Amino acid sequence: MRVILTGASGFLGRAVGKRLAEAGHELRVLGRRAPSWLRAGDGFHRWDAMRDAAPVKALEGMEAVIHLAGEPVAQRWTQGAKQRIQQSRVEGTRALVKAISRLEARPKVLVSASAIGYYGDRGDEVLTEESGRGDGFLADVCVAWEQEALKAEELGLRVSRVRFGVVLGREGGALAKMLPAFRAGLGGPIGKGRQWMSWIHIADAVGMVKFILETPGAGGAWNATAPMPVRNAEFSHTLGRVLRRPAVLAVPRFVLGLAFGEMAGMLTGSQRVEPEAALKAGFRLEYAELEAALKDLLTTR
Ligand SMILES: NC(=O)c1ccc[n+]([C@@H]2O[C@H](COP(=O)([O-])OP(=O)(O)OC[C@H]3O[C@@H](n4cnc5c(N)ncnc54)[C@H](OP(=O)(O)O)[C@@H]3O)[C@@H](O)[C@H]2O)c1
Repeated sequence: MRVILTGASGFLGRAVGKRLAEAGHELRVLGRRAPSWLRAGDGFHRWDAMRDAAPVKALEGMEAVIHLAGEPVAQRWTQGAKQRIQQSRVEGTRALVKAISRLEARPKVLVSASAIGYYGDRGDEVLTEESGRGDGFLADVCVAWEQEALKAEELGLRVSRVRFGVVLGREGGALAKMLPAFRAGLGGPIGKGRQWMSWIHIADAVGMVKFILETPGAGGAWNATAPMPVRNAEFSHTLGRVLRRPAVLAVPRFVLGLAFGEMAGMLTGSQRVEPEAALKAGFRLEYAELEAALKDLLTTR
């Protein structure tokens, strides 16, 4: 398939790009800079999701669009940062769909990233793709972001919205941020650690994107999470065990608040998510269980 990818220099985009290239897809990248993994024959078009107009030329001849670009969420949410988080996703997606509308021959599918932040802070409630939206800044961003992507349905595209959980990988994302403290024996639960963490191994997150891309009719919302979410205390305990380090130093909520401001709510919020759509569609995850996922990422190679 001829696939164009945004966010291709990011943590997920790099892994998605490499996996699709290995599978023989023809790739083109749309972004602020050419990613290092780009092969000689791949195309690159410069586009800044926040500033530039619709990139019509870049989309010509493409059969599928995978849209992952967005300002990093894990940073202190100043007014400016919140604006960039919102604008890069909502206006970026709007520009992309506008470009698609101007094409004579349109791609058949848009796979657009979203996040389980869509569901807000939901305690012990089990959340599937059918669950309603939640409250708060991230939920508002996810809803607006998905709404922009859904406009491509009116243009005849299959639109798949992938609500990623906490993606665990060696080369970025949340795990890379946690590792220094845990490796030093200074890790531990956040607050009381009762909040649910819906995680997914990066190999499965990428596998799910590829599955959705290649499965005809696979539209709608997809939770990209493992089927066995854990409470934050269990996550910390398991990470400590895999690293053979103590992980008992709880981080009080007020300290997080001081360090991260409003963003701390993302770390203390609870989302117990199930990947119902993927399981029903027959997608098989390689890592359903946290300890096996962490062992693969941290003790092999
Ligand atoms: N990683 C996770 O655990 C996770 C969880 C839930 C949802 N997601 C979502 O999945 C998508 C990909 O995640 P990721 O972890 O790969 O993110 P990432 O590493 O931060 O990469 C995102 C990419 O978006 C582009 N970008 C960043 N800031 C931008 C800005 N201000 N304006 C325009 N483009 C910008 C960059 O690509 P270029 O420089 O190439 O343009 C960047 O490489 C994101 O939308 C993220 O919110 C990720």
